[in-house]
Amino acid sequence: MRVNGQARRTIVPAITADAVTVIDQRWLPHRLDVQTLRDLPEVIVAIRDMWVRGAPLIGVTAAYGLALQMRHDASDSSLASAAQALVAARPTAVNLNWAVRRLQAALDGLAPGLRASAAWRIAGEMADEDAAVNEAIGRHGLPLLQAVAARRGRVDVLTHCNAGWLATVDWGTAIAPIYQAQAAGIEVHVWVDETRPRNQGASLTAWELGQQGVAHTVISDNAGGHLMQHGQVDLVIVGCDRVSARGDVCNKIGTYLKALAAHDNGVPFYAAMPLSTLDLSLQDGLREIPIEERSAREQTHITGRDARGELVEVQLVPDGSGAANPAFDVTPARLVSGLITERGIVPANEAALRGVAGQG
Ligand code: MRU
Repeated sequence: MRVNGQARRTIVPAITADAVTVIDQRWLPHRLDVQTLRDLPEVIVAIRDMWVRGAPLIGVTAAYGLALQMRHDASDSSLASAAQALVAARPTAVNLNWAVRRLQAALDGLAPGLRASAAWRIAGEMADEDAAVNEAIGRHGLPLLQAVAARRGRVDVLTHCNAGWLATVDWGTAIAPIYQAQAAGIEVHVWVDETRPRNQGASLTAWELGQQGVAHTVISDNAGGHLMQHGQVDLVIVGCDRVSARGDVCNKIGTYLKALAAHDNGVPFYAAMPLSTLDLSLQDGLREIPIEERSAREQTHITGRDARGELVEVQLVPDGSGAANPAFDVTPARLVSGLITERGIVPANEAALRGVAGQG
């Protein structure tokens, strides 16, 4: 997608195969800060501290992290411990585990001397694949918006968190159908949930939609239900961090409340899911998906730009108040109208999901 009119991806490998550059998303929308990651420890910090975030992007970044480690030490023990450390960096999004295990399996059968170049090549293939998969998700989601536009002349979509270009290598998942609709000349407007506590909606989704020229309005996380009651939302489209075999959708905290409000108001609720986000080893998403608990400071403090243009962090709560910060929640399959995948839209049930994954 575009930044200041220039096409770019979120992660760019060095021609010299010894580093990747990423956008440090902690400073958006106020500062576009591009950082170079040169080794495994730097990649782990970037994933854990959310310089890069979003399920597909952390998967691809981790693959490059493993490739960088293979340049340093390609032994079996180095491969195993690097894979373990990467997977532990963020526990909820299954794409991280999927990407690391896929690369690890490819390298396991190779002599150590061959691993570094093979890992770099495969990580690059995974990045290209992610961009292609998301483009396909956009194409498959487009008819949902076309149908509304045919009826109403325009489409209002509500989204939560950032499942756009910044959460992937390119295109995004939930936002990809919106970019396709824009390209098809449909009048589309996006209600952007701010997404407390880290504000991925207000900071990241709003920024990237602005960069692509898509009309959008940032709303508080509490506003969505009200807008749905008043007929101002045609569709909800969110991303996913892990989807269980029976179709329970784990995504950024607050997604479940949007699904409840959508259900109560007859608003279709779709989740966009690359098949790398499907975890067929789990049934009951509510009980079996590990939910990342992040630092309470994300809840008690907030960072923004002051009147002088300086980035400042301020405290929001009284001294001594406790805070909890579960980072994801699970929306039961019964509230999900469908999953938009790279192979088409499928209902949220086990038979359909196993079928689309080729494991029926
Ligand atoms: O904690 P984050 O910012 O990594 O969470 C991101 C989300 O919840 C996204 O909506 C999800 O990863 C889907 S990304 C295409």
